[in-house]
Amino acid sequence: MVDKIEDKIEKLAELIRSHDRKYYSENCPVIGDFEYDQLMNQLISLESEFPHLVKPDSPTQRVGGEPLTGFEAVEHKIPMLSIDNTYSEDELKEFDKRIFKALDGENHIVEYVVELKIDGIAISLWYENNAFVRGVTRGDGSKGDDVTSNIKTIRELPLRIATQKGQNTQNSGLIEIRGEVYLPNEDFQQINAKRRDDDEPLFANPRNAAAGSLKLLDPRIAAKRRLHLFAYDIGYAEGLNQSSHMETLNLIREFGFPVNPNFKLCKNIDEVIETCNAWDTKRRDLQYQVDGMVIKVNALNLREELGATSKAPRWLISYKFHPEQAVTRLKNISVQVGRSGALTPVANLDPVSLAGTTVSRATLHNFDEIKRKDIRIGDYVTIQKAGDIIPQIAGVVKEKRSGSEQPFNVPENCPVCDSVVDNPETEVYVRCPNPLCPAQAKRRVTFFAARNAMDIEGLGPAVVEQLVNENLLKDYADIYSLKESDLVKLERMAEKSAKNLINSIEKSKTRDLNNLICAMGINNIGARAADVLAKYFGSLDKLSEAAKEELETINEIGPIMAENIAAFFQNSATKAIIEKLKTANVNTKSLSSGNGMAKTAVFAKSFVVTGTLEQYTRNEIENIIKEHGGKVSSSVGKKTDFLVAGKAAGSKLDKAETLGIKIITETDFKTLLAPLN
Ligand code: IVH
Repeated sequence: MVDKIEDKIEKLAELIRSHDRKYYSENCPVIGDFEYDQLMNQLISLESEFPHLVKPDSPTQRVGGEPLTGFEAVEHKIPMLSIDNTYSEDELKEFDKRIFKALDGENHIVEYVVELKIDGIAISLWYENNAFVRGVTRGDGSKGDDVTSNIKTIRELPLRIATQKGQNTQNSGLIEIRGEVYLPNEDFQQINAKRRDDDEPLFANPRNAAAGSLKLLDPRIAAKRRLHLFAYDIGYAEGLNQSSHMETLNLIREFGFPVNPNFKLCKNIDEVIETCNAWDTKRRDLQYQVDGMVIKVNALNLREELGATSKAPRWLISYKFHPEQAVTRLKNISVQVGRSGALTPVANLDPVSLAGTTVSRATLHNFDEIKRKDIRIGDYVTIQKAGDIIPQIAGVVKEKRSGSEQPFNVPENCPVCDSVVDNPETEVYVRCPNPLCPAQAKRRVTFFAARNAMDIEGLGPAVVEQLVNENLLKDYADIYSLKESDLVKLERMAEKSAKNLINSIEKSKTRDLNNLICAMGINNIGARAADVLAKYFGSLDKLSEAAKEELETINEIGPIMAENIAAFFQNSATKAIIEKLKTANVNTKSLSSGNGMAKTAVFAKSFVVTGTLEQYTRNEIENIIKEHGGKVSSSVGKKTDFLVAGKAAGSKLDKAETLGIKIITETDFKTLLAPLN
């Protein structure tokens, strides 16, 4: 019996851990918060029944997710705890009772501040002498990632705290502001629209897109994501003496931080409940996602009295909204073919109204999901919007089955060209292997012509569709053989637009090498990697001759990317395409400074930087290393080649000494930057 309980706990813990990884590390959750909390509650109740079976690594013993790699891990001065969730009025009333009980039944007046729970990423913002010095994600609650450079791209973030008259002497030391980084709905939709064009996986919701953006190693790209911020508390400060949360909110607003205006001081729990209910509807009019409300005791002295558990403070709670759901019938599952031949299933539904729109299609991420959720054609399915935006199938209403529902089989042939597909058994990556498949050709040509690639205005999906169907285009190099007389024959193509299109095709021949590399649509090679490759090789010829081993040594090019690039250029179809591009006089060389990267001793070496530097800022030295093809890592390991040690270097220096790693000064580093012959 005991064995069985132990197994059950371990299975549940592992399931929760796998959802944690999907949520925190992969930014791709497969269940909603409600389902997740139910799993967690099951585990909590089992563990409280059998406390001797609680393991230190149980998800109940942790505050959040793992910190990400690639950013420096920073210890929080004050742990960033999480919030207990509630889903009903009754639970809110119980919370209120607990508060009164914990306050010893004294005749307290407990007022609550009710705020929107912004569905974004928690952030800790540090200021020294009123100047912004560091932004750190919550991470696992005790340690987070230093994402300062990306945080600085948020326009409304004050880089200096605005000090009021008579106040500046008080908070001249350290101050920590806490808040939420988020992405407005419209920006999220734009990012996903672009990702769809680029054949990149979509973000499931704005929260994941915000997390993905904070994780970008290049702040220039992060800046384009237009992240936003709401501040909601002071985590640490010296010399401030507010006595309530309302005062805190006013103070941080005076400091210059954006504070969400929709907070409300409530006299009692009934008013709290009324406010929460009102926002369950009103939240749909907001430009950003709100997944619940946060209810906080207003008086700071009472907060102190109430204290915290190891996981969450006792003086606050969240009230989570149930995602709006609808039930409808799954009419059939169609299969789309992507640019690289990837087959993806799409659910076609009986139209149903959900959270303000009519939904007739829903995302099915891959074939495995159909099997995992046991989705059959003809089933009644519950759909919900992920982050209230993209509809997805939450589950099947099995009670409604009549027996006539048909299981869906992973296709063995491409639905467009009928070629036998690769890998049907993996159910995750099923591909049409035929490079001449018209579906792939259409996607590839559209991708080639897209703005961030060759930027051929007027060559959108509708025109490409006709050109491929008319056999005028088999691959994107054929674009350069198109004649005005071919174009005028197309539907809705007047002489003027045909002329314009020919002009933009001509203009695209002078695009820079990075655009061309990106446009060629090599698997996994997006705009950033194309930039790196263009800078490194300087010409398409050099890139096409590079061996996988050399590609792998390039900073930011991982082994899978290296393999894809090498395979792409070895393919005879690619060779023919390159010949056609060259014959058409399409530029295949880097137009910007120099041809390729001058090699220095930094190239392909792994660096760790520690201590206080005098000649560079941390960001500067890291960028120089990366620009010279080196790697920067945050911790010293066997694979580290150099430790650049500034003043007051600590444990990293000790570790490097123990491991016998080369320790250099900033001046030594400068000598590594001399070009090698
Ligand atoms: S107060 C002890 N107020 O919700 C934590 N959190 O599960 C105190 N959140 O990601 C947090 N809006 O960043 C607080 N108005 C708000 C909030 C808020 C969103 C987030 C928080 C964290 C999550 C907690």
